Amino acid sequence: MPYPITITQTDRKKEKPDSSCLGFGRYFTDHMFVMDYSAEIGWHDPRIVPYAPLALDPAALVLHYGQAIFEGMKAYRTSDDRILLFRPEKNAQRLNLSAARLSMPSIDEELFLEALRTLISLEKDWVPRERGTSLYIRPFMFATEPYLGVRASESYKLVIVLSPVGAYYAGGMKPVKIHVESRYVRAVRGGTGFAKVSGNYAASLKAQEDAHAKGYEQVLWLDAIENKYIEEVGSMNVFFKINGEVWTPPLHGSILGGITRDSVIHLLRDWGIPVREEKLSMEDLYVAYTRGELEEAFGTGTAAVVSPIGVLGWNDHHMVINHEQIGELTAKLYGTLTGIQYGEIADPYGWIVEV
Ligand code: COI
Repeated sequence: MPYPITITQTDRKKEKPDSSCLGFGRYFTDHMFVMDYSAEIGWHDPRIVPYAPLALDPAALVLHYGQAIFEGMKAYRTSDDRILLFRPEKNAQRLNLSAARLSMPSIDEELFLEALRTLISLEKDWVPRERGTSLYIRPFMFATEPYLGVRASESYKLVIVLSPVGAYYAGGMKPVKIHVESRYVRAVRGGTGFAKVSGNYAASLKAQEDAHAKGYEQVLWLDAIENKYIEEVGSMNVFFKINGEVWTPPLHGSILGGITRDSVIHLLRDWGIPVREEKLSMEDLYVAYTRGELEEAFGTGTAAVVSPIGVLGWNDHHMVINHEQIGELTAKLYGTLTGIQYGEIADPYGWIVEV
């Protein structure tokens, strides 16, 4: 490790929220991890400090040209009070992939994992106990140099904050209603869609607001060239069970490579269920639906876990999937994945890392 992580503890601990009504991303723990980068000395001064607002120069490049990336991960409490992380090295790798796309400096993956372990150990009382709750981990990196010319910043901050959470969707495991977006696009190949870039999410908000106004929870994005092929939901990758096979769009540059997506594909293949990482058009999905072949649909993500999709609204079509009930395969995937994450099921894949 290049520098030891220093710890400054707060003398004002907050009251912890009731774990039965956490919602998502509303509460933050007592401490955060911060580390600075400058072109002259590289990453330095890794530290854990009391959770507090950050001071930022008004000319900081992130505020003008949006050089910002983030990650999402969770810590789970087992029934015997161990704290587990799920494939954290994958988040470290993806943070560096995102950093490279936005001309930001890479971080030492070992230092990142050490920062997580140190911060979570200090905040372990914040990992909620109820099944279905967890401590959401939000690492993010942004440009801090005060400068108004358009170029990569020469200084950055990496920050990790922690938030005890329940389900991402207000309805919990109730199947979500999704609007298939035909007007706006999320990402195009060669752009930043494959990276966890904050601007991708900013660009999705308008369509999401329009969808909310029509009674949908989320937006399903189509490809930006032909407006035809299914890509992803802004906070989840998507899967469709059609005639006994599972389809999910391939990672070809505009879709985020979800760690839950990868884990679900592993599980399905292990169970002998064919997974087709192939382009799927909305027309073909609709034809399968009209023939009664679309058996289940679900989204995957760290925040969303495995979330059933009950309705797809596409142009004038209102597609009701599996009578808006959780499908058998969706439920099995949710049960197995969360069983591994909460240490209830043996982990044959080496996905779990104890803090
Ligand atoms: C996650 O699943 O962790 C995400 O980052 C999605 C999100 C934007 C809430």
